[in-house]
Amino acid sequence: VSALALDNIGLLVTNDPALGAGPLGIVRDAALVFDGDRVAAVERAGAAADERIDVRDRCVIPGFVDSHTHLVFAGDRAEEFAARMAGAPYAPGGIWNTVTSTREAGDADLRGLTEARRREALRAGITHLEIKSGYALDVPGEARLCALAAEVTEDATFLGAHLVPREYEGRPDDYVALVSGEMLAACAPHVRWIDAFCERGAFDADQARAVLEAGRAAGLGLRIHANQLGLGPGVQVGVELGAASADHCTYLSEGDVEAFAGSETVATLLPATDFSTRQPYPDARRLLDAGATIALATNCNPGSSNTTSTSFCIALAVRELGMTAEEALEAATSGGARALRRPDLGRLTPGARADAVVLAAPSYTHLVYRPGVPLIAATARAGRLEWRDPELWPPG
Ligand code: NIG
Repeated sequence: VSALALDNIGLLVTNDPALGAGPLGIVRDAALVFDGDRVAAVERAGAAADERIDVRDRCVIPGFVDSHTHLVFAGDRAEEFAARMAGAPYAPGGIWNTVTSTREAGDADLRGLTEARRREALRAGITHLEIKSGYALDVPGEARLCALAAEVTEDATFLGAHLVPREYEGRPDDYVALVSGEMLAACAPHVRWIDAFCERGAFDADQARAVLEAGRAAGLGLRIHANQLGLGPGVQVGVELGAASADHCTYLSEGDVEAFAGSETVATLLPATDFSTRQPYPDARRLLDAGATIALATNCNPGSSNTTSTSFCIALAVRELGMTAEEALEAATSGGARALRRPDLGRLTPGARADAVVLAAPSYTHLVYRPGVPLIAATARAGRLEWRDPELWPPG
């Protein structure tokens, strides 16, 4: 194993207050030393290493940890999006369109589509992804999606409880029994997590609880989709069951905010979804002031949020959700890691996985200040530079 140093970093975000200034643990004029796939040290610029890359005063941040995606799917729903922009509302039923195209796609095609999206995410600075199933909704199909997700990430999630499929129309409890029994048994070997979409038009509190409890009994960690389209029981169910994260949270009651604040459950906000579905934005300030932990994720999927741009999510979080640039960056890095209970990710501190992004900018503030501009010059994952922008790299 040989040491690689990113040297002459103008501003390094470590996310470790013990290593630098403020909650982001900022170190100026730094070198970041990798040893194999781990961070070995944070040093003064000029560090010795087998290989040195001079980043010429640019800003280096931890790789984005995208803790909510639905990357394994076929087809697109641009027409639904266009109809929404013309005033139509978002409805969970649209999921069925993607189920139809995903069921028809062969393994090789789905694998290729997923890999292309993973590469797109890497170009956007995402070094770790959670990926959900949920676009097959039958036993062999969900097992196939879970296996494909697990080829890309250790954080694959079984989401059989995404929508009641047409075959079970009028019999939702029979479908819940299938998800909690035979489907769970086929999917559990591939995944770390189980999730349920608890919303009017999808699954109610009792149904979501039944699915999540079955998942827990099978050894899986819990996540929940909650309060995307209106106030509902999802946050309370998630907190009550000790879910790692309750996601969306576009609508929050006082009780929901208090529940987050008194729990280990992370509130994962998905502002690109609220953008793409013309919903109001969640009030992140209220959650932060109450003491809740926030993650920001892309929710990349063909229906409600077809983007891999964490930078866009950060810009929205600052402009529309009431977060500072520092809070938004933290939520998109260490917040995502906390939502996945991955202490090895989301920080650039000795022992953590060596996942870092070199920005074509002197500061992370540019992610908000220059919205829509590609600023990801290079992405390192597990100690290797896996993406270099041909225009922005090497640093000039
Ligand atoms: O997180 N809310 C449920 N699932 C996805 C949307 C899926 C779709 O519309 O295809 C979400 O927004």
